[in-house]
Amino acid sequence: MSAILETHLLWPDEAAAQASAQRLAAALLPAPDALIELHGPLGAGKTTFTRLLLRALGVEGRIKSPSYAVMETYELPSGAGTASHFDFYRFGDPREWEDAGFRDIFAAPGLKLCEWPEKAAGQLPPADLQLFIELMPDDSRRVRAVGAPRLVEALA
Ligand SMILES: Nc1ncnc2c1ncn2[C@@H]1O[C@H](COP(=O)(O)OP(=O)(O)OP(=O)(O)O)[C@@H](O)[C@H]1O
Ligand SMILES: [Mg+2]
Repeated sequence: MSAILETHLLWPDEAAAQASAQRLAAALLPAPDALIELHGPLGAGKTTFTRLLLRALGVEGRIKSPSYAVMETYELPSGAGTASHFDFYRFGDPREWEDAGFRDIFAAPGLKLCEWPEKAAGQLPPADLQLFIELMPDDSRRVRAVGAPRLVEALA
């Protein structure tokens, strides 16, 4: 098994999350190829961090929450490949995994960002990075990051 690192971050505001997203983007480029899980309750900031990361990777235009479609895919600029953003909140039927082609996407290179990964726990391959986002009463976010050392280190 490869090495795993764990660290804790504090994001007092969205600007702090953006700084982490920009450093993580730099570590992922030039060819982002990782499975990143975003854990946390409703409103924790999973979609927000995904948007910040995709922006930092050069995605322009609308980045919508994939809640109803389950998946949104983006072509990254400069031939950096694809990024797929999943929200498994409403994912229930394991057959959908095959039918929607998710197996193929996770088997291929590229960036995969997963909200509510616990709802697809039986299907998802192991993550390269897991973020556990906790919403604090003062609106700041406490984040536990676990995964590949070079990605965890990039966040802090
Ligand atoms: N780091 C942050 N600092 C301050 N506010 C934030 C931060 N991240 C998110 N928010 C705010 O919290 C709200 C909810 O964020 P978001 O939609 O990203 O949550 P989510 O975890 O994706 O929720 P869901 O489980 O419903 O998909 C948004 O209004 C956003 O502006
Ligand atoms: Mg969301």
